Amino acid sequence: MDKLVIRGGTPLKGQIPISGAKNAALPLMAATLLTDQPVTLTNMPKLADIHSMAALLDQHGVKRKTQDEASGGQTVDFHAKTIESTTAPYDLVRKMRASVLVLGPLLAREGQATVSLPGGCAIGNRPVDLHLKGLAELGAEVALEGGYVKAQVPSGRLHGGRVVFPVVSVGATENLLMAACLADGESILVNAAREPEITDLAECLIAMGAEIEGHGTDTIRIQGKDKLGGAVHKVVPDRIETGTYVMAAAITGGDVELTNTRSGLLESVFEILREAGVTIEEGERSIRVSAKRGGLKGVDVMTEPFPGFPTDLQAQFMTLMSVANGASMITETIFENRFMHVPELARMGANINVHHSSALVRGVDRLIGAPVMATDLRASVSLVLAAMAADGETEVNRIYHLDRGYENLVEKLSACGANIRRVTTNADAPAEEETV
Ligand code: UD1
Repeated sequence: MDKLVIRGGTPLKGQIPISGAKNAALPLMAATLLTDQPVTLTNMPKLADIHSMAALLDQHGVKRKTQDEASGGQTVDFHAKTIESTTAPYDLVRKMRASVLVLGPLLAREGQATVSLPGGCAIGNRPVDLHLKGLAELGAEVALEGGYVKAQVPSGRLHGGRVVFPVVSVGATENLLMAACLADGESILVNAAREPEITDLAECLIAMGAEIEGHGTDTIRIQGKDKLGGAVHKVVPDRIETGTYVMAAAITGGDVELTNTRSGLLESVFEILREAGVTIEEGERSIRVSAKRGGLKGVDVMTEPFPGFPTDLQAQFMTLMSVANGASMITETIFENRFMHVPELARMGANINVHHSSALVRGVDRLIGAPVMATDLRASVSLVLAAMAADGETEVNRIYHLDRGYENLVEKLSACGANIRRVTTNADAPAEEETV
């Protein structure tokens, strides 16, 4: 099992290229099931989660060819000429919750799908009820049997419908958006998620011949088509990776330029960070960020669906606030159990009190290196940030979480001067856990 060994105290200086978004790439890969024509995705990140989704698509019969791009990222051709299996087995689905995104496309194209329930999750109870209720509105008959969702369409083809989501769900919006593209007639998704990854998916579906309006707003209208065709689509830059490195630069008192990214993806985050004393200059395709060490100020934050402050940056922001001047109240409204980084940060000297869904962070002068481990992807990276700001050496264990969502993390940070290395130990890795 690998670990990271990090010696803190070096301000990050240099350039970091941002990869394509994992959370956009995963639904885009699922969307390739909707057509018998080839779909090419460019700017694909090389990540463990992408491999997991690729393995799932393989067994559905999707043929795949990968080529590296000179400028980073990968170009991958997907061709779902025929669907060989409409079952997504437990062994592949349990590794990653986003596997449930094959349900909508399989059902829409084949009239049936059997998909394992994703199971428990480290950051709270995350049901898929909204996905299932929505598909039922489009005419699917859905049953749960032996840990599997068994869905079928008696008439063979989904029909249009009006789906009102009681809470905003990124995954349910994506599943329904994809399914509705091949349904008979018009569908309307109300209280839909507005995340940039949804807009990216809609743009790819439109390039494939879908008729969609209102993506990026909370009401999406889809006119179903008999068939979709092929397309070439570039994956949107990863806003969570961008935000993570912005905070990495800030916490080390560094000066970093983030390239291959886009401004406008993180407006609410940048507003808060500027208030906290971080300098951010937004160019068209790059962002420059700098901060004075010891010059950060405590600011309150509440996580919300887009365009609010993303839950996927909450842990990193908490690390930043742990060395700010003054206090910060951080409230998590999306997931009920997403403070697992708190005890680990406390081991490094952070002063944080959790009460229900809020954490009161009182800034300390310094963090101190310690052995730490984390239980989900974003919590892990928050510990990497803490380690880079801390005095002395920190060991971050269980870094297989990081491999799921951060491409070339060690290389990108070392290129900016961070003292970080990956060490392979011989101990057996624990069973992989499902996280965001
Ligand atoms: C996606 C992201 C994840 C991010 C999250 C919220 C991907 C692959 N993952 O996850 O990184 O943290 O959005 O921005 O894109 N819910 C239900 N029933 C459902 C579905 C969701 O109650 O059927 C609840 C969840 O428990 C949660 C909230 O809705 O409290 C939002 O979850 P959702 O937006 O669906 O998250 P994911 O799509 O799983």
